[in-house]
Amino acid sequence: MSNNTASWGSRVGLILAMAGNAVGLGNFLRFPVQAVENGGGAFIIPYLICFLVMGIPLLFIEWSIGRYGGKFGNHSTPYILDTMAKGRVWKYIGVFGIFTNVAVICYYVYIESWTMSYVLHSVIGTFTGMSQAETAEFFNSYVSLTESTLGIPFEAVVFYIICLILNTYILSSGLKGIEKVAKIGMPMLIIFGAILAVKAFTLGDANASPEFPNANAWDGLNFLWTPQYESLLDSKVWLAAAGQVFFTLSVGMGTIHCYAAYVRSKDDIALNSVSAGFMNEFVEVVLGGAIVIPIAAGYLGLDWVINNAGFGMAFQTMPYLFQQWGQVLGAVGGVLWFGLLFFAGITSSLAMGTPWVGFMKDEFNWSQKKSAISFGVLVAIFGLPTVFFFTQGVFDEYDYWAGTISLVIFALLETIVFAWIFGINKGWNELMEGADIKITPIYKYIILIVTPLLLIWVFASNIPDIYDKITHK
Ligand code: PHE
Repeated sequence: MSNNTASWGSRVGLILAMAGNAVGLGNFLRFPVQAVENGGGAFIIPYLICFLVMGIPLLFIEWSIGRYGGKFGNHSTPYILDTMAKGRVWKYIGVFGIFTNVAVICYYVYIESWTMSYVLHSVIGTFTGMSQAETAEFFNSYVSLTESTLGIPFEAVVFYIICLILNTYILSSGLKGIEKVAKIGMPMLIIFGAILAVKAFTLGDANASPEFPNANAWDGLNFLWTPQYESLLDSKVWLAAAGQVFFTLSVGMGTIHCYAAYVRSKDDIALNSVSAGFMNEFVEVVLGGAIVIPIAAGYLGLDWVINNAGFGMAFQTMPYLFQQWGQVLGAVGGVLWFGLLFFAGITSSLAMGTPWVGFMKDEFNWSQKKSAISFGVLVAIFGLPTVFFFTQGVFDEYDYWAGTISLVIFALLETIVFAWIFGINKGWNELMEGADIKITPIYKYIILIVTPLLLIWVFASNIPDIYDKITHK
């Protein structure tokens, strides 16, 4: 247990840091892909339902657990869980949560480093005049570590290390540094996103390439927003929706515990958790849905988007599409898009670093700086393999085990601790302490019964896949 009594500097700082934690690459890269792959409007209803019956309850649980632990001077999940439930096993479960954070950050920082490098490439005009095949090839050689346009050998590795050092440096300055980054990064992200979305809306079909004369940006938006009720019976769509809700809200890893442990006991955590959650959803469905899909649909057509949905859209295709705006505006488009992704990424990776740093402080009484450096070294050791062996699929393995499966397991365990071991009444009182807003007590029963059952169902539905993975089918 550390004696650190630090707390967030201001309410705005706390909300922006929490929103920055949630708003991440998941909102702009993962959400559009998941939505398109799962049928656009077919995805939205299960997604919103999962947000309400799983996302919001998990936010309540994690904020309450975090603040409760913080009252006892604990700032990391193992110690926080230890104050709620007796028995060493919960401490180990907390450690499992910390390692999930570390595993996700290992590949997350890699994507973050691409965005940094792509901002630079947009500024220096690397993409000017490139064909669609060439911008795609640029990305492929970047991640294969074969070519370096900047004249730096292993450019991807260099940017990974720069990005990691930046994260470590900010973490070493503690909450203050995180708050500062969130206060700059979040408004910038919203402004950049709004400009790109307005541009996307105004594309219409005037810019369709000669190859795709019927392309229209509005087709992309309509596809996303026209509900299709048949999908309600498709369990695959539900699973994808649940997975996206987890990832985007940053729940299921104990990241939020560690931010909430620094909340003052009179703060309204019920209101804060709802605000941060809804802010994330706004940025995800409104902004996240209004950039890549309509811009790509505007130039290349909706069919192209549906057939090519994937990570590649953001890095392989967008730099090409921005060129259609002319040399200067194309560069501006690139800076806005990759800059937005960078801000989204860094405010989330800092959040993922906090549990490890807090654990080192709680466990060994290390200073903030020493704990942050240990984080940087750890991520370098386990993260660089995702860079060196990206094309061999190491990245995807991390994303599956840490970014998909572990989240569900951890979320189920923390729900059990909160509702069944600590006790839902005590838990609810913690949530409501200092709360001005009224939350319908229906949520008490949702947390007690619906959320755990849903989590068990999500986990059980993943078992065949897990089995296939383990047996390498
Ligand atoms: N929510 C972040 C995103 O959408 C990812 C994240 C997951 C951040 C877990 C922190 C903890 O990109």
